[in-house]
Amino acid sequence: MAPKLVVITGASSGIGEATAKRYGAAGAHVLLLARNAERLYGVAHAIREAGGTATAFPIDLVGSEAIKELAARIESEIGTPDLLINNAGAGRWLPLVDTTPDDARAMIDVPYLAAFNLTRAFAPSMIARRSGGIVFITSPASYLAWPNASAYIAARRALAGFAETLQAELKPTGLFVTLVVLGTVETPYWEHNPGSRQNVPKTSPWLVPTLTPEQAAQAIFDGAEQQKPFVVKPAIYRALFVMNALFPKTVASQLRRAAKKARDPVT
Ligand SMILES: NC(=O)c1ccc[n+]([C@@H]2O[C@H](COP(=O)([O-])OP(=O)(O)OC[C@H]3O[C@@H](n4cnc5c(N)ncnc54)[C@H](OP(=O)(O)O)[C@@H]3O)[C@@H](O)[C@H]2O)c1
Repeated sequence: MAPKLVVITGASSGIGEATAKRYGAAGAHVLLLARNAERLYGVAHAIREAGGTATAFPIDLVGSEAIKELAARIESEIGTPDLLINNAGAGRWLPLVDTTPDDARAMIDVPYLAAFNLTRAFAPSMIARRSGGIVFITSPASYLAWPNASAYIAARRALAGFAETLQAELKPTGLFVTLVVLGTVETPYWEHNPGSRQNVPKTSPWLVPTLTPEQAAQAIFDGAEQQKPFVVKPAIYRALFVMNALFPKTVASQLRRAAKKARDPVT
């Protein structure tokens, strides 16, 4: 059964937009958060046109005060969410020397601090009610390291560390926490974060298929519905994470080679 009230960050584009539509189609009231008001209202309109219920809340998720105010407004005007999906994120995959300190800081602001602040804002009433779920969307960067994405990878480790700790901490409260690890998804992310695509390690599309936003949304939906602690799509990444734990040097050398191939396909 779909949750009744779902908050989704980064709902103006890509994975968040597709996930919002998926929950809208399942009958949830979807609360859409992101900066781009026009796009957000467009997504809300599309959900309503399809027979669902959606409300857009344009917000910049950098900084804790605006988040606190919005969470209080949602709680008093609409209610406590059944599901909070921390999806908003950005970050350019660049070599260290091309990454500015501001870039590195921005990647910590969103997704990690944004997810922390929003989760922190809604958690007390979810804990008091003793039900609900918190979902985090991340990338294999939370568990693997490849060249030319150091600031992005560091920020994704922060997000996964936060999510894994909450799994342990919130277990006795009746809340569940789902960490969703998605491989490459064909979304506007790659235009929004210039220079990133050429630093995606080159793998066989047969072995590691690229996902559509709808496939990513379905994986999020199914994982949360089953209250899974850990969702990995495509599943091959599970094997890579195990291999990385057992044979870190081998995996590191494969990833170095795949990253070089991505930047310089002829070598
Ligand atoms: N695409 C992939 O291959 C892939 C794979 C694994 C994980 N992910 C992760 O999945 C998440 C969604 O990615 P996507 O592919 O859907 O990218 P996207 O199309 O670029 O969407 C990113 C979303 O985050 C929002 N956002 C960014 N900064 C924000 C801020 N300061 N305040 C509020 N909202 C903000 C954007 O909205 P506004 O610009 O309107 O604010 C947008 O809705 C990201 O965390 C990404 O790292 C992506």
